[in-house]
Amino acid sequence: MSKIIIANWKMNPRSQKEAETLFQQIAIFCKNFKENKVIICPSFPHLYIYKKLKIKKILLGAQDVSVKAEGASTGEVSPTILKDMQVQYVIVGHSERRMMKEDDDVINKKIINLLKFNLKPIICIGEKKRDHDGFFLSYVREQIKSSLIGISGANMKNIIITYEPVWAIGEKAEREATVSEFIEMKIFIKKTLADLYSSKIAHSIPIIYGGSVNSINARSFLIEGQADGLLIGRDSLNHKKFGAILEVAQENK
Ligand code: PGA
Repeated sequence: MSKIIIANWKMNPRSQKEAETLFQQIAIFCKNFKENKVIICPSFPHLYIYKKLKIKKILLGAQDVSVKAEGASTGEVSPTILKDMQVQYVIVGHSERRMMKEDDDVINKKIINLLKFNLKPIICIGEKKRDHDGFFLSYVREQIKSSLIGISGANMKNIIITYEPVWAIGEKAEREATVSEFIEMKIFIKKTLADLYSSKIAHSIPIIYGGSVNSINARSFLIEGQADGLLIGRDSLNHKKFGAILEVAQENK
């Protein structure tokens, strides 16, 4: 099955020149990609590079969107502006934005706004910490339910769900998640989606993993974990490290 590999560049690289180089270096790795999808999510000011360099074999994603469709909203970026930049996917609900007080209601409004404009939301969910009694599961269930309020079953074909346990993300990660932790969570997410929609819809939604992904654990998450893809932060900023992850995905498509 084809895999979805997403690069979340966050607030990197520091210059336009470095971003252009990174796009071009990654594009070389993707030259022979057929089924797999590679989605790069640069910062807003670097989105234009995609159009400028006419990047092929890569899809463009953004890291955020406004809750509003258009108009007076200082500092915000609308779905229409993103579409004009050839963006097709948008990350919503990333834990780093949730930490900036982006709540479930705002996340839900952003998802609705994206779907209205035929943009595909990459919804990030994940617990801050785990407990032995499994309360973290209800926390994740609530995140899923509240993100999807008012979203029809027909619209679910445009959704990607990323499980990113907050404790496994970034330089300050406590530890990497294990493959069995991902597998259990994938089953739990599918069950929650089946309760909300139907088993058929739950089955069709890609569930991908993010949090300290590298070329070594990528193989485990994709093969043993049967992840539908990966969302990569730090290792997407180095073309060799990201290229190694892409090669793993290519072996396992
Ligand atoms: P990381 O980031 O790969 O650097 O842990 C992942 C993410 O925040 O999406």
